[in-house]
Amino acid sequence: MNKKTVRDIDVKNKKVLVRCDFNVPQDENGKITDNRRIVSSLDTIKYLLDNNAKVILCSHLGRPKGEVKPEFSLKPVAEELSRLLGKEVKLAGDVVGESAKELTENMKDGEIVLLENVRFEPGEEKNDPELSKKFASLAEVYVNDAFGSAHRAHSSTAGVAEFLPAVSGFLMEKEINFLGSALENPERPFVAILGGKKVSDKIGVINSLLEKVDTLIIGGAMAYTFFKSMGYNVGKSICELDKLDLAKEAMEKAKKNGVKLLLPVDTRLGKEFDPNTETKVVKYTEIPDDWEGFDIGDETIEIYTKELENAKTVVWNGPVGLFEFDKFAIGTNAIANKLAEISATTIIGGGDSAAAIEKAGLASKMTHISTGGGASLEFLEGKKLPGVECLQNK
Ligand code: 3PG
Repeated sequence: MNKKTVRDIDVKNKKVLVRCDFNVPQDENGKITDNRRIVSSLDTIKYLLDNNAKVILCSHLGRPKGEVKPEFSLKPVAEELSRLLGKEVKLAGDVVGESAKELTENMKDGEIVLLENVRFEPGEEKNDPELSKKFASLAEVYVNDAFGSAHRAHSSTAGVAEFLPAVSGFLMEKEINFLGSALENPERPFVAILGGKKVSDKIGVINSLLEKVDTLIIGGAMAYTFFKSMGYNVGKSICELDKLDLAKEAMEKAKKNGVKLLLPVDTRLGKEFDPNTETKVVKYTEIPDDWEGFDIGDETIEIYTKELENAKTVVWNGPVGLFEFDKFAIGTNAIANKLAEISATTIIGGGDSAAAIEKAGLASKMTHISTGGGASLEFLEGKKLPGVECLQNK
């Protein structure tokens, strides 16, 4: 990465504002159900503490849309951070108001304060310069470690960098290095697996990867749009009738670029959208009217996993089936197990694919699991991320 990191800047005795992505899932009682994003931020925080900085953390949680909503408070995050660091993390009562000022004014070296949810401020998502200035007024250095939010041009992820020396944290650096080297300099064969519901969500990444990979494996509900574009019936399966051209173009582009594009040859159907529904596997050309496709079939699993056996680099974004229902997690689990077995560099885009790997208990077997869902997708699409672009070059 050509951006400066915390290593390249003097942080000693300084107030350092660190934007993290603490947007973690919670249960109905507010209990954090997956603390991976918090754990992933610890390297940067510990480095700053070890170097006698005064650490001011900030993040969004959910989408409170510029209003103070107690259910989106970062209180559970402050508690989890305190537990993980073995050190008190004080939570400010607001974002850049009186409480934040008071807590950050006379901080001592090695102290940590967490500001309240940045999205309680109406200016945050508008990237309002006035709010960015207020963030900047709290600190002397800005560190962006929120890879998961790097695709957002908001006050705390990008705007504030105009008013303070701005560098990247270790998580941001690691994410960009893993995803970047897979795209720029992959050991071949390079295989990408793309799942997910909609061709329209994934067409950017399909097009970008068709320039880079040797094999592109398609799964998930978007496969049905491909089948439909070939003229087949897809029953009750999710299908974007207005995106058939995009599917056709992707198939043509693969041919032109000499990329092996693998589509399912069979599919696992369900009678209803229900975890206990009746299921059956049919050829992709034989989907009956009153059934819905939820997973890849057994023959497809064999073809896909065989293809992965020879891969040297694999990037996976999006489960290949409705993995939340055990009956339709078969394809996703088979792929996860194969990735755990092979000696390739395996990179998992965040979001649902990361959740599927966690659910299968195979996280430790992957080379890198991204903490970014939307951010990793945009990075793979070749888009510039505002949260990275705003940082100082080396
Ligand atoms: C994510 O979970 O993908 C990030 O935290 C970004 O959240 P957002 O989509 O609400 O901006």
